[in-house]
Amino acid sequence: MKLSVIYDSKTGNTKEAAEWIASGMNEVDGVEAKAFSIENVDVNFVNESAGVVIGSPSYAATMTPDLHAWLMSADVKLAGKLGGAFSTQQYTHGGGDLVNQAILTFELVKGMLCYSGGGAWGKPNIHVGPVAVNANKEEHNGMEHYKEYFTIYGKRFASKAAELF
Ligand SMILES: Cc1cc2nc3c(=O)[nH]c(=O)nc-3n(C[C@H](O)[C@H](O)[C@H](O)COP(=O)(O)O)c2cc1C
Repeated sequence: MKLSVIYDSKTGNTKEAAEWIASGMNEVDGVEAKAFSIENVDVNFVNESAGVVIGSPSYAATMTPDLHAWLMSADVKLAGKLGGAFSTQQYTHGGGDLVNQAILTFELVKGMLCYSGGGAWGKPNIHVGPVAVNANKEEHNGMEHYKEYFTIYGKRFASKAAELF
């Protein structure tokens, strides 16, 4: 079963998070997961995927204009697939969950089955989707603090996709 992670990233943080999710997905038996920048999407691989997780940096607490434009114009099949969302930001309260919500709303419009795991798996509870805070503005923060959340999320997402598809 193929799974795709699609992201926009200008300075590498969201790319790193996307790769953590894909590595967590690949821990599940029978899963082949790949992460793609919106600048280099393997459309055939995405179309063959049972699930697609989409991620963005927080730009004024929503997805980037480039991701939004790509989503509006991309010729990829999303309907009927499992969908998820993730984000990165530079402030603890930088709007990442709102980014995730905007992505999930788009996925619902496209007819995807949205999934975060929620409280179903116990701790760590991931309510809407994982959010990482980089160290640009907050010295106590940094991407490395969030790696485990993203790999766990990827593993949970892939397990649910395997169960459903
Ligand atoms: C135009 C712009 C707007 C941004 N707006 C926010 C914001 O609202 N909240 C926040 O926490 N970080 C904001 N950031 C910081 C990025 O979300 C953050 O550095 C992110 O991890 C960058 O991801 P990337 O390295 O994948 O490009 C903004 C950055 C830019 C360039």
